[in-house]
Amino acid sequence: MTSLFVTGTDTGVGKTQISSALISLLKQRGQRVAGMKPIASGCYITSDRLRNDDALVLNQQANVQLNYDDINPYAFELPIAPHIAAKKVGVEIDASVIHRQFYQIQKKADSVVVEGAGGWFVPINDKLTMADVAIRLGLPVVLVVGIRLGCINHALLTVEAIKCSGLPFYGWVANNIVENTESDAIVESLKDRIPAPCLGVVPVLSASQLVMDHITLLDSGK
Ligand SMILES: Nc1ncnc2c1ncn2[C@@H]1O[C@H](COP(=O)(O)OP(=O)(O)OP(=O)(O)O)[C@@H](O)[C@H]1O
Ligand SMILES: [Mg+2]
Repeated sequence: MTSLFVTGTDTGVGKTQISSALISLLKQRGQRVAGMKPIASGCYITSDRLRNDDALVLNQQANVQLNYDDINPYAFELPIAPHIAAKKVGVEIDASVIHRQFYQIQKKADSVVVEGAGGWFVPINDKLTMADVAIRLGLPVVLVVGIRLGCINHALLTVEAIKCSGLPFYGWVANNIVENTESDAIVESLKDRIPAPCLGVVPVLSASQLVMDHITLLDSGK
C-alpha cells in the first residue's frame, strides 16, 4: 500500500501531471490504484452534473474505476479558492465526508493517489485547510515544486508546514513548467535544503512526452 497525498507550491504547478505519473508507476508495480481529487473548483457542467478535468484524468489513469462522485465529492463551477466557491453555493466542505469517501475507495484499491487543491494551506472552510484533509487521511505527502522564480521560498515554506503536520514526507518533485535558465541551480538549492528524497526532475515536456519517465517511487513503497 502506497497511498499518497500530492500537494504543490501553488496552483498550476503540475500536481495533476505528477499524480497521474505516480498512478502509472504504482500500476507498473502491479498494484490496484485509484485516484482522488476530493475538492475541485473550476468545473464544467455536463448535462446536469459538474465535472473537473483533474478528477477525470486521475480516474482515467487509475486501474480501479470508480464513480465520479466518489472520487470528487466536492465540485464547484467557479475556478476560485475552494472555501469561497463553496460559500457561494451554500456548501460547507466537511473533511469527514472526504475521509469516509477515501476509506471506501481504499477498500477497493492497494493505493490511492489523492490530489490536493491549490497549495498546502488553501482553506477549505472557515476553519480548515487542505493540510487538515491530508492530516485526516494520514497520508505520506509528495510536494510538487513548480520550478520558476520565487519557488525556493514557496517550497521551503511548504516544507516547514509539512514538517509541522507530522505526516511522513514521502518526497518531492522538481517540475519544470516553463523554461528557466537557472533551473539546475534552483533544483540544486532545493536538494540541499529539502529533507526528503527528490523523486525526480521533470523537464518542460511536450504533450507526447511522459512525466513518469522522469520520476521514481521509493523502494520502500514496493
Ligand atoms: N513538466 C511540464 N512540462 C510542460 N508542461 C507542464 C509540465 N507540468 C505541467 N505542465 C502543464 O502545466 C499546466 C498545469 O499543470 P497541472 O494541471 O498538472 O497543475 P496542477 O498543479 O494540477 O493545477 P491545479 O492547481 O489547477 O490542480 C498544465 O497545462 C500542464 O499540462
Ligand atoms: Mg490539478
